Amino acid sequence: MAKQVGEQLITKAEIEAMVERLGAEISRDYAGEEVFFIGVLRGAFIFMADLVRRIQLPCRIDFISVSSYGAGTESSGFVKIIKDIDVDIEGRNVIVVEDIIDSGLTLSKLVELLRARKPKSLALCTAFDKPSRRQVDIEVQYCGMQIPDKFIVGYGLDFAELYRNLPEINLLEEG
Ligand code: IMP
Ligand code: MG
Repeated sequence: MAKQVGEQLITKAEIEAMVERLGAEISRDYAGEEVFFIGVLRGAFIFMADLVRRIQLPCRIDFISVSSYGAGTESSGFVKIIKDIDVDIEGRNVIVVEDIIDSGLTLSKLVELLRARKPKSLALCTAFDKPSRRQVDIEVQYCGMQIPDKFIVGYGLDFAELYRNLPEINLLEEG
């Protein structure tokens, strides 16, 4: 069945306030340090762009691409690196930037892989979180907003690669 965009769940203003808060928290927590942000493609691209503009620290930026979901809404629990970062993170403060955490499978695998590269520190920052869906235990240092167990689109998040361009967060509807 085709799915269409449904009601708005989170407004542009709410997203802006959330990003501003996270940027301030990170800037305060890492004061005097340099931070390396790794955005998880493709969902995090908009959040990453907004977040780093709120960071008042020297920062470096790269992106990583992993496969988690297929074209639908269910996690496969299988994570594969499609595009790796291009630089060495050994000895660096790394913050992984995600669009949303659902089962947690994607991030837990990614964290395992990045830890093996011996960063000085490794933290997770997600725009949205669905804690009720968690299948593995992961510690998330920076969380924008917790949301109910609903599939959302917009602000970088897709359904079958559509709707990433919507400026606010909308629910997905059966159509
Ligand atoms: P996890 O491995 O189950 O935590 O899946 C996380 C990934 O699934 C995210 O990076 C998104 O790409 C995708 N995802 C999970 N929930 C949603 C949603 O509500 N809308 C869009 N993508 C989602
Ligand atoms: Mg996705």
